[in-house]
Amino acid sequence: MRILVTGALGMLGHVLCETLRDAGHDVTAKDLPELDITHVPACEAAVAGHDWVVNCAAFTAVDDCETKEKIAFEVNAVGPAVLARAARSAGARLVQISTDYVFAGDAGTPYDEDAPLAPRSAYGRSKAAGEWAVRAEHPDALIVRTAWLYGPGGRNFVTTMARLAVERDSVSVVDDQRGQPTCTLDLARYLTELIGADPPAGVYHGTSEGETTWHGFAQAVFETLGHDPSRVLPIASADYPLPAPRPAYSVLGHRRSDAVGVNRLPNWRAALQASAHLVVESV
Ligand SMILES: NC(=O)c1ccc[n+]([C@@H]2O[C@H](COP(=O)([O-])OP(=O)(O)OC[C@H]3O[C@@H](n4cnc5c(N)ncnc54)[C@H](OP(=O)(O)O)[C@@H]3O)[C@@H](O)[C@H]2O)c1
Repeated sequence: MRILVTGALGMLGHVLCETLRDAGHDVTAKDLPELDITHVPACEAAVAGHDWVVNCAAFTAVDDCETKEKIAFEVNAVGPAVLARAARSAGARLVQISTDYVFAGDAGTPYDEDAPLAPRSAYGRSKAAGEWAVRAEHPDALIVRTAWLYGPGGRNFVTTMARLAVERDSVSVVDDQRGQPTCTLDLARYLTELIGADPPAGVYHGTSEGETTWHGFAQAVFETLGHDPSRVLPIASADYPLPAPRPAYSVLGHRRSDAVGVNRLPNWRAALQASAHLVVESV
């Protein structure tokens, strides 16, 4: 299939392009400055001739979004709307990548794909608006929410912990936020399978199996890379204040993946063990 990937130089985008090509697809990779997803004529021209569009472009600096909410909405809501409209007119299906931050994070059991949205941060509001805009412009679109991403080819939580393990005696990491660390390699495989299945429109959750805290994730990074995990100390979010509030509970359920017969992603710990060395060596 002919597939346009936007945001193709980003952490997810570049891995997805490679995975789709390995699966035999004809991939067009676009990112800034060549393609700005908020630019209508550029998007119409870029989308033409493709069967699918996967939008990995986003303004992802969560804390910066608090003071730059207008830019966040431009990139995370208007951009997806522009792409969705262009894709619909060109007869292409669209996958919009979204986030666990669209939820309040105060649940105690995994969020269902149809759970009500209640974002608590500017980033979350802009991504929730992006979901709504995509559904309005392109009723046949897919929205794939992911979370806690890491992967090869850039800085992320795993590479930061690998660096701190060498630089410091101990590292303090929050232990009261739960989520699903997810490797871009696994998410890219999931997205490739999902596209191949040509599934019904709507929301899908592309996150690892299992759950942990950032502290648990950090300890697992230390352990996998041969460092003593007891050097990672637990702290509360209140002791590590950030501009944007983080969801305390960000675990997503996988009901719709099961319903369409698309394989779930692997368990987060197994995925980390399989990828950590590659991720760290890629920066
Ligand atoms: N990272 C996570 O933990 C995480 C968690 C949940 C969901 N997600 C979602 O997953 C998707 C991919 O995230 P990621 O971590 O791969 O993000 P990323 O590394 O920040 O990549 C985003 C890419 O989009 C580009 N971009 C920004 N504005 C654009 C515009 N107006 N037009 C075209 N391209 C533009 C960026 O270019 P510049 O670098 O030049 O700005 C960058 O190359 C996003 O939808 C994100 O919201 C990520």
